[in-house]
Amino acid sequence: MPSKIMFVCLGNICRSPTAEGVFRGLAAQAGLDVIVDSSGTGGWHVGEQPDRRAMAEAASRGYDLSEQRSRQVCQEDFNQFDLILAMDKSNLNNLKSIAPCGSQAELKLFLEYAPNQPLTEVPDPYYEDNFEGVFDLIEEASRGLIKALS
Ligand code: 4NP
Repeated sequence: MPSKIMFVCLGNICRSPTAEGVFRGLAAQAGLDVIVDSSGTGGWHVGEQPDRRAMAEAASRGYDLSEQRSRQVCQEDFNQFDLILAMDKSNLNNLKSIAPCGSQAELKLFLEYAPNQPLTEVPDPYYEDNFEGVFDLIEEASRGLIKALS
């Protein structure tokens, strides 16, 4: 059975759609059978495409985020996914607070898969406009996750 992995940030328009697209692309190259999705803890951008800056940086690196649409994490996700990876500690705490009793999904910070990286959280690029750095981090953690799953 393929591993089912969900990436979660706040708005699901910058970091987690990037993680979904990058991880899906690198996992396919590695021949890994995975089901990948992403969502946000907040609902402000539901139905929207990823931020155009994220889509542009993705395209320059050979990933396509354009089919993705923002959605909010829901209780059913905790039954559907094996591994739910939060971009920052606030996202992780929010996930823990809404996880239904008896949920088997493992909840972790995504950067646990980038152990050589001093940062433990993926910074929010929405206001900082640091999409290049965020993509570098997400590619590194995605490679670490692929190694862990292989
Ligand atoms: P994300 O970035 O959590 O990486 O998708 C954000 C996008 C939008 C907002 C916050 C974070 N916002 O407040 O609208």
